[in-house]
Amino acid sequence: MNDNLEVLRLSGSLGAEVRGIALADAAAADAEKIRSLLTEHLVLFFPEQHLSVEEHAAFGRHFGKLEGHPNLQNPFADQPEIFELVATRGGIADEWHSDITFQAQPSIMAILNMVKCPEIGGDTMWANMYKAYDELSPPMQDLCDGLTALHDALPHGKPESMTIHPVVRVHPETKRKSLFVNEHFTRRIVELSHQESDHLLAYLTRWAANPRFTVRYRWSQGTIAMWDNRCTQHYVLNDFDQERIIQRVTVMGDEPKAAGPPKWEPYVRGRHAGASSRYDRQLNKFLGRRAGSLESNRKQDASGS
Ligand SMILES: [Fe+2]
Repeated sequence: MNDNLEVLRLSGSLGAEVRGIALADAAAADAEKIRSLLTEHLVLFFPEQHLSVEEHAAFGRHFGKLEGHPNLQNPFADQPEIFELVATRGGIADEWHSDITFQAQPSIMAILNMVKCPEIGGDTMWANMYKAYDELSPPMQDLCDGLTALHDALPHGKPESMTIHPVVRVHPETKRKSLFVNEHFTRRIVELSHQESDHLLAYLTRWAANPRFTVRYRWSQGTIAMWDNRCTQHYVLNDFDQERIIQRVTVMGDEPKAAGPPKWEPYVRGRHAGASSRYDRQLNKFLGRRAGSLESNRKQDASGS
């Protein structure tokens, strides 16, 4: 195990740069140390690593089972867990988000290799969602604790791929609460009318990006970054023209857990909804699908199959 790690904090809210370790040779004990640094700092940067695709995937496997991206292409047939984002082909995530929250079990961690980056521009920002929750007023925390939200893959052209998560999730390791809605994938607060949902989501997603909760990282080629996807969001600055290529592995997820049971029923307008019922269509569709699958599970349980 390497005991000579240098850890440099990068902002008051999250993020640290780590030197003094070659990730290509990381042993299990090193991975444990890195995991505890990640719990403390939420996002870590390891400059000058220059990992191969194989070394990158091998490092990722220290932290759990890896998965490919559900909607994006993987150019490496023999390394299916890696995917690549090329900026000149639209790979710039310039809306705040946690990764793949349209899935029932979003990834818990991502490990990114900056293969090629512009000389200037293309920085990435991360924000601390524990802080975003902790600094809400108690009445707002209380409201958010009882809400859930619909997320979908509309940004990937797949709005039918959707799921519902708690608005506030409890981290399974730290037991801390964090805000879990994002401007990229979150469409609707389930228990509010669509107008109320629009306003609250606009407020929460703007609040989550308060500069006080963030760190901004300037890349150099060969840097590895890793972040806890359960308690952070990130955003890429779309301010560059040169090539920017990243490769990423993601560690498979768990189901986000709420602070408590839901406090209210889903809110969808009934007979007098009129024209505004179109705003409830997507939520209705998801709830209908979920009710159908619950019913078929119930029947299977009843028949003992
Ligand atoms: Fe992302």
